[in-house]
Amino acid sequence: MATNTDTIDSLSGDWLARVEAATDLPSLEAERVAALGKQGAITQLLKSLGGMSPEQRQAEGPRIHALRENVTAAIAERKATLERAELDRRLATETLDMSLPVPLGEQGSVHPVSQVMDELAEIFADLGFSVATGPEIEEQWYNFTALNMPESHPARAMHDTFYLRAAEGEEAKVLRTHTSPVQIRTMMSQKPPIRIIAPGRTYRSDSDATHTPMFHQVEALVIDRGIHMGHLKWTLETFLKAYFEREDIVLRLRPSYFPFTEPSAEIDVGYTVVNGRRVLGGAEGFMELGGSGMVHPRVIANCGLDPDEWQGFAFGCGIDRLAMLKYGMDDLRAFFDGDLRWLRHYGFRSLDVPTLSGGVGA
Ligand code: PHE
Repeated sequence: MATNTDTIDSLSGDWLARVEAATDLPSLEAERVAALGKQGAITQLLKSLGGMSPEQRQAEGPRIHALRENVTAAIAERKATLERAELDRRLATETLDMSLPVPLGEQGSVHPVSQVMDELAEIFADLGFSVATGPEIEEQWYNFTALNMPESHPARAMHDTFYLRAAEGEEAKVLRTHTSPVQIRTMMSQKPPIRIIAPGRTYRSDSDATHTPMFHQVEALVIDRGIHMGHLKWTLETFLKAYFEREDIVLRLRPSYFPFTEPSAEIDVGYTVVNGRRVLGGAEGFMELGGSGMVHPRVIANCGLDPDEWQGFAFGCGIDRLAMLKYGMDDLRAFFDGDLRWLRHYGFRSLDVPTLSGGVGA
């Protein structure tokens, strides 16, 4: 193949223009194969050196090699440019906003019992109460004895207690039958004045449409100087009005007996029947919400406090029932079946936080 300076120069110009004109990586690769591949034009030129006279080869060799080097360098540079452009394009289009919620949408919901516990914490925080907790596997001393129920006390039989197998020489622990042991733990660990609520799981060996072996209670305890039944009644009324979001709550404190309060009262609340359903408010009928009373002086003394100086009230309500009355479920057992359809229907959105300003149930 005869070449001269002019043809090499114009070939060089052609190839550089073609390389420059490649707008993406595949077309650039096609140009590389066309120029420098096994059958490529420049490779052919290099091969043609073999058929030249020594003088020709001396003249043409350096030009052809220079041509190949120029084109190789141009391709490399073009490739880097195209790759950079491709990366920029991807960075611009493939944005990932880490602050967005997962695109699948919300999975799961807040169980009504958890929702009600949050509402209780919100309502009572506004009244100056904090939230206290205690273990569900409890010592008999906290669950019974310190609450003025010594071993032979018939009241122990009132609770159908789950006893755990005891280790050698130790007393059997129980699944706490109420949240009242948290009263004891709180009085023994905090200095009065005390204002706490203790929501949580409780256990009794009982199962029918209105009882499950595990259920939830909320305990309230106030210990201060000069506390009397009036404080108890006002607190209950204020709590129930805020919780049910209505002003016409009618409360009835019915004389009762608990070993750890004196006097003791059952908390009854009035309801009205609307479309065959009991709705809280008014006083067409009364239903029981829980127990209450003035903390027994012996219980205060059991916790190391002087009952002549400190008095208090306590009450305990079933949370599951509070949830059913407010949100309209009628079968307690469905609460703990874990049926997704039930949870989707009655569950609450996980990002909705109860607030007093929004109405606690909002
Ligand atoms: N612990 C009692 C129960 O479970 C309720 C209660 C709590 C009564 C506090 C009086 C004071 O039945």
